[in-house]
Amino acid sequence: MRIYDIIAKKRDGGTHTRAELETLINGYVAGDVPDYQMAAWMMAVYLRGMTDEETAILTDIMARSGEMVDLSPIAGIKVDKHSTGGVGDKTTLVIAPIAAACGVKIAKMSGRGLGHTGGTIDKMESVPGTRTALTQEEFFAQVNRIGISVIGQSENIAAADKKMYALRDVTATVSCIPLIASSIMSKKLASGSDAILLDVTTGTGAFMKTVEDSVQLAKLMVSIGGHHGRKVAAMITDMDTPLGHNIGNSLEVMESMEVLKGRGPADLTEVCLQLASYMLVLAGKGTPEECRAMAQQVIADGSAFAKCKEMFAAQSGDVRVLEDYSLFDQPAAKYEVLAEADGYITANDAEKIGIASVLLGAGREKKGDPLDYAAGIILHKKRGDYVRRGESLATFCGAPERFAAAEAVYRSAFTFGPEKPSELPLIYAIVTDTGVSYFSEEK
Ligand code: URA
Repeated sequence: MRIYDIIAKKRDGGTHTRAELETLINGYVAGDVPDYQMAAWMMAVYLRGMTDEETAILTDIMARSGEMVDLSPIAGIKVDKHSTGGVGDKTTLVIAPIAAACGVKIAKMSGRGLGHTGGTIDKMESVPGTRTALTQEEFFAQVNRIGISVIGQSENIAAADKKMYALRDVTATVSCIPLIASSIMSKKLASGSDAILLDVTTGTGAFMKTVEDSVQLAKLMVSIGGHHGRKVAAMITDMDTPLGHNIGNSLEVMESMEVLKGRGPADLTEVCLQLASYMLVLAGKGTPEECRAMAQQVIADGSAFAKCKEMFAAQSGDVRVLEDYSLFDQPAAKYEVLAEADGYITANDAEKIGIASVLLGAGREKKGDPLDYAAGIILHKKRGDYVRRGESLATFCGAPERFAAAEAVYRSAFTFGPEKPSELPLIYAIVTDTGVSYFSEEK
């Protein structure tokens, strides 16, 4: 079948066969299908959708388009975790060490920041000296020795996704459920873990803006995992408001260490405990209640923090910064963003806050831009807080010439009113192969 006919079939609402999808995806990876045809097909998928079966086949083809990592040289159950992206979302740096301290093997590949959302690898590299590119032998040996390693995703994992994601980013086809599900699950299947916990974020700072869409995406990813013999669970978490108070690379490492030391902010700590509990459940460690108690215990006795230090040390990071934050590179300047009126914060658009932090230098505006690891935002006031005129809403960290542009975007994220808004849940639901359990009412 010609590529033209494949595009026309999806444009007209048809359902693809495996052979058609293989022709398209493998042709694109080989360079035989040009970007404009792929972009046209992705827009047709965006508008017409795909059946669950089509999405599962697409995922399989994308996973096999690169290296399929075999983690069998690592003994024990390997559990992975993936977030669909967020602002101030630093949960991997907390829950991976918690799970490892509870005896679960973590052989994890993570990504860099994307758009307004941050990435674990950039955060890890803010710890001076940290190596995030290990050879496969080093990676396996470290996980066998200390139970945990988090590294950058190998170039060869899901080669199709790498090309397709870059094209989606510039053709307004990112927030499309079958394309997100196949993008995430192709990488997860190729990365080789036995079980996968997905954090499906929902709200202004997430790709999925409603709980309903998030649940649909989660169900699809859980079922794709099941078809490939992997245990998958997905937690639907709030991303209307950034998690915790710190946004930016070293700032987020500091806040994660605070959670591991038992003194992190309540929202971040709660989401991390829930995610960590379900990682342990997936590893067969017990019921959600028993697993939560285990997660709390390894924070309380210091073993989760010790595991995190051990991981950074094994990857050549200067772990002194995890104890004494003043040893991190310091920002060139700090700037207080002051409230211009009294009132309750009724909304704080997490996407705009994420963009403000990118403008400060914490993220990239163009592929390959260098990062300022010390740049970012410390939020003093979030949705639901009362502020008085002249009080600090946030501290900006970074190069002073970047403050004005970031401030304009930051201020546009906030809405104030006379009434305290009702509280939003931190976690909406958990989706497993047995169905959906809601923690609270839908938004
Ligand atoms: N994260 C991914 O890896 N892919 C998507 O499509 C969206 C979020």
